[in-house]
Amino acid sequence: MEVNESIDKAFLNRAFRDFEKSSQKLEQQYAMLSDRFGSLEREFSGKNRAVQRTSRLAAMGEMAAKIAHEIRNPLGSILIFSTLLCRELSGQDENQRLAGHILDSVRNLDRILSDMLVFSNGPAPALEVIDIKDVIEKTLETCSGRCGDNVDIICSYNGETELSADAGLLSQLFLNLFFNAFDAIGTDRGSIKISTHIKAENTLEIIIEDTGCGMDESIEDRVFDPFFTTRHSGTGLGLAIVASIATAHGGGITCTSEQGKGTRFVLSLPCGAEAKEESGMAQSR
Ligand SMILES: Nc1ncnc2c1ncn2[C@@H]1O[C@H](COP(=O)(O)OP(=O)(O)O)[C@@H](O)[C@H]1O
Ligand SMILES: [Mg+2]
Repeated sequence: MEVNESIDKAFLNRAFRDFEKSSQKLEQQYAMLSDRFGSLEREFSGKNRAVQRTSRLAAMGEMAAKIAHEIRNPLGSILIFSTLLCRELSGQDENQRLAGHILDSVRNLDRILSDMLVFSNGPAPALEVIDIKDVIEKTLETCSGRCGDNVDIICSYNGETELSADAGLLSQLFLNLFFNAFDAIGTDRGSIKISTHIKAENTLEIIIEDTGCGMDESIEDRVFDPFFTTRHSGTGLGLAIVASIATAHGGGITCTSEQGKGTRFVLSLPCGAEAKEESGMAQSR
């Protein structure tokens, strides 16, 4: 009876120690699990907030695109009537100058709206065979009111200038580059050189160089980022859209600049028989 009792005691002591060890382990594991649960819960609610933010932004983008679309129609009428008014006022220099301000401001608003629409929908080029020379000349005409006497514009077109592209989108691309160049030159004397040539491998290169204020490296690195601007009333959408239009055409654009000297953009677009054939196929589809 005594022997059995001592065996039972030793057995019970061991069992009790084992039980204590196991329960300590369980407590540690429980603490680890509740830590992990806490961090997962935080991660989840963070992700949930990000999803909500993204869908709010998407809804805002959609609303902005709708508003831009609605504003465009009345703006188009204002553009037509202020163009007519400018013509009517020929011979009355001062009045014509004032009406010219309306026209420039409306064109500027129209450009910002077009940028917003392309940014929210993404550029979808409708390809056809076009002459880049015509697009550049027409775009320069459109912004002639903005270009003062202090800026010389020098164009040189070398070799083939036909390619398969969307003339409207390319005009929007050039408008952004020209307006940036006018801003960079300001009221100083300066020039904008536009030249085209064929590069090897069916690429049409268009170089746009200005003698404006230029920029330092930290700005140059970010110019194509959406919403990056150093201008008081800038949107920072211009060059982001320029880059997306170039890419949507299967091309690209680069920027090099020197502060105080000027800036050079090199736009590359596919050209040649293959690109033209593709536009023919796109049209017949
Ligand atoms: N030709 C240029 N010369 C100097 N700086 C430029 C030029 N083009 C663009 N930049 C710089 O890049 C920034 C972004 O340009 P952009 O995307 O067109 O937006 P925004 O014109 O609304 O500022 C400008 O604010 C300016 O700092
Ligand atoms: Mg701009």
